[in-house]
Amino acid sequence: MELNPAEKRMLEGQEGEATRKAMEILAAIGTIYGADRLLPVASVQIAGVSYDNLGEAGLEFLAEMTSHAAKVKVLTTLNPAGMDNENWQIMGIDADFALNQQRVIEAYQKMGVVPTCSCTPYLFGNLPHYGEHIAWAESSAVCYANSVLGACSNREGGPSALAAALTGKTPNYGMHLPENRRPSITVQVQDSLTGTHDFGLLGMVLGKAIEARKVKAIPYIRGITEASLEELKSFCASIATYGGLALFHMEGITPESMLFEAPGDCMTISRSDLEAANHLMNEALSTDPVDFVSLGCPHLSLPEIARVANQLKGKKVQKTFWITTARPTKRIADQMGYTGIIEAAGAVFATDTCCVVAPIKGRFKRMATDSAKACYYAASKNEFQTRFLPFDEVIAEALQ
Ligand code: F3S
Repeated sequence: MELNPAEKRMLEGQEGEATRKAMEILAAIGTIYGADRLLPVASVQIAGVSYDNLGEAGLEFLAEMTSHAAKVKVLTTLNPAGMDNENWQIMGIDADFALNQQRVIEAYQKMGVVPTCSCTPYLFGNLPHYGEHIAWAESSAVCYANSVLGACSNREGGPSALAAALTGKTPNYGMHLPENRRPSITVQVQDSLTGTHDFGLLGMVLGKAIEARKVKAIPYIRGITEASLEELKSFCASIATYGGLALFHMEGITPESMLFEAPGDCMTISRSDLEAANHLMNEALSTDPVDFVSLGCPHLSLPEIARVANQLKGKKVQKTFWITTARPTKRIADQMGYTGIIEAAGAVFATDTCCVVAPIKGRFKRMATDSAKACYYAASKNEFQTRFLPFDEVIAEALQ
């Protein structure tokens, strides 16, 4: 891979040890994937922020980078942490974990990373435009950025995202190359879809179907006439989880769909496919009651929080109910009075975090949510049984 003089200086350590290490990581990745050069990136999103995932080894790596005065060169935001950074006690987080989580956030802040602690950076300030190159690590956000915004990002790992932040560069391969963004299969959706649950189901059914083909395909989806931001973020999280996809095109909805014809290879997805998947998701649940309810995977938008407030007004929840969202979204919800209504009903804002990355294994047994992604990880990581329901039914479950 060809490096320009400025990049060579970074690799030689002329901008410090942290930048040298970062350039070394990028040069190795670029060589492995056959990149011809490095590209400048407009922003970075770092994942692997929860101390539950990072552990002591991750914290030591960050401490080492800060000891070398590492500083980011571009706008860099953070994925959710393992707790609400301002209100962790209410979540039942133990003090040792909280201390270590705070050390992680402080290390990133020292490097100049904005501690947004959210998987929806595009909702507040980290919003790449069409065709812009970025280096993001959160799978749902990468899929949203590539597909819905038309930006270009590979799904970065923790070290490669940090390396991109410290150098402002990423290797030119994968999703950065126009030829790798072409659709290869047409997916005809035969029925109209409504809500995050429906779109999550579609992501799961399509993701699994593509995964089963063994050859990675980029779908060109037809038959969907409308999709809200919330439905698209749910779909992105689901298709990235169940199919490992970083890009899809949706006819008439996503920007790059206008560049392509529908490919000849075709599959259809009907309402009965979605219903069968929904049945499969919920059949394993025992008849014991749900003891944990969570909304906000990916993090809730302001309209979603307004919807929760509207339905909880004057009522009391009967079980632990987490509202997971980003701090900037929560601040506006505070101003709008939504937070007061939701907290008066007994629900808890788990801001900066989510039901997957918080250390809650063993605390609950059965969770209800509208997120197909949360179901997948809550089952595999936290060993919860999950009930996968439409948004309003999740709220109703909390009230029972
Ligand atoms: Fe975000 Fe956590 Fe879901 S990081 S996409 S809310 S698993």
